[in-house]
Amino acid sequence: MRVIVTGGAGFIGSALVRHLVLDRGYDVLTIDALTYAGNLASLKPVEGRGNHHFLRADIRDGAMMAQAMATFRPDRIMHLAAESHVDRSITGADDFVQTNVLGTFALLEAARAYWDGLDVRARAGFRFLHVSTDEVYGSLGLSRTHLFREDTPYDPSSPYSATKAASDHLAKAWQRTYGLPVVVSNCSNNYGPCHFPEKLIPLTILNALEGRELPVYGRGDNIRDWLYVEDHVRALDLIAAKGRVGETYNVGGRNERRNIDVVRAICHVLDRLCPGPTARESLIRFVPDRPGHDARYAIDASKLENELGWQAYETFETGIEKTVQWYLENPGWWQPLRQNYDGQRLGLLDQCA
Ligand code: NAD
Ligand code: DAU
Repeated sequence: MRVIVTGGAGFIGSALVRHLVLDRGYDVLTIDALTYAGNLASLKPVEGRGNHHFLRADIRDGAMMAQAMATFRPDRIMHLAAESHVDRSITGADDFVQTNVLGTFALLEAARAYWDGLDVRARAGFRFLHVSTDEVYGSLGLSRTHLFREDTPYDPSSPYSATKAASDHLAKAWQRTYGLPVVVSNCSNNYGPCHFPEKLIPLTILNALEGRELPVYGRGDNIRDWLYVEDHVRALDLIAAKGRVGETYNVGGRNERRNIDVVRAICHVLDRLCPGPTARESLIRFVPDRPGHDARYAIDASKLENELGWQAYETFETGIEKTVQWYLENPGWWQPLRQNYDGQRLGLLDQCA
């Protein structure tokens, strides 16, 4: 099996590459532009493996994408490259339109030309998995009565989710119009190792570890549905292999939590694994809310569970413990990313790592 993974130096992409190369033994070509969010350190476990190749390239470069496909001859393309942080999309949407919309367009066009040139058997087996987000569905009420299903209408709130929604529509249109064998996945919030420390969970872990304030938007009652990244990666592998062409599969861990409870849970795990001078909860600060902040996301994953037999292995409690432990054990991964932070450090890391 020969697989191209775009965005493979990012958080989820690198977990996927590690899984495909190390656990599945596939031949993988990682394509990544190495933006601020891409990190070759996340691919260290596959470094030097004969079945992993890396190409630094921008997915908007259609000629480069076409050449990579012609040379590598993939059976699958798993497309994860994106600008992914909602707050950045609010302060500047340009990169989001560029990569998420125009980049996906360029990649789809290159994939269509490549697929058109394959023999009948290879054409039938080829898959393009477009990896997307539950944020395209907009916001659910806080009452916990509804879940996002595959037929929930699109209603994106942020520039990020609007560009992801646009890319989903492009991917679906390339399937319906040109027959390109596209499958789409829409997943809830991921967490785990190698998560860039601008997102809630890694930011909280590292700020708490360093004795910094823990910013919670609004009153912290927004709800997200958390999935451990390795559970997502197994779902992606399964959807690419067995998902029906033209279909969407929602992926989620049935782990709804209020943000404030997520932050408190991290504080408690850290207080136990790496006790500090005071309880970490005292570092929590309520800060002005994110504009257009979606109240609640929650996924109904029953199609994926019933049709493809997928199940999440990690609960939030087991996943968050593993995640905190990973950050404690891997300061070499995150310290270079924190150099922009100044202020007092508590020096606890050396005791706990
Ligand atoms: P990430 O920001 O950690 O990684 C994105 C990767 O894409 C980086 O390595 C970056 O260098 C690369 N990239 C960005 N622009 C590029 C370009 N123009 N050309 C080539 N590479 C480029 O993102 P992530 O959290 O790993 O998310 C991966 C995908 O999964 C995204 O499509 C995202 O929308 C989707 N997703 C994320 C989550 C989540 O909770 N993080 C949940 C559901 C879906
Ligand atoms: O639902 C899937 C999405 O999850 C993905 O598509 C996105 O790529 C990914 O970034 C994530 O989006 P969120 O906006 O939900 O994730 P983030 O970690 O930025 O925020 C999680 C929640 O925590 C959200 O309600 C905002 C809040 N928050 C975030 C930060 C960074 C805070 O309260 N404080 C913070 O400092």
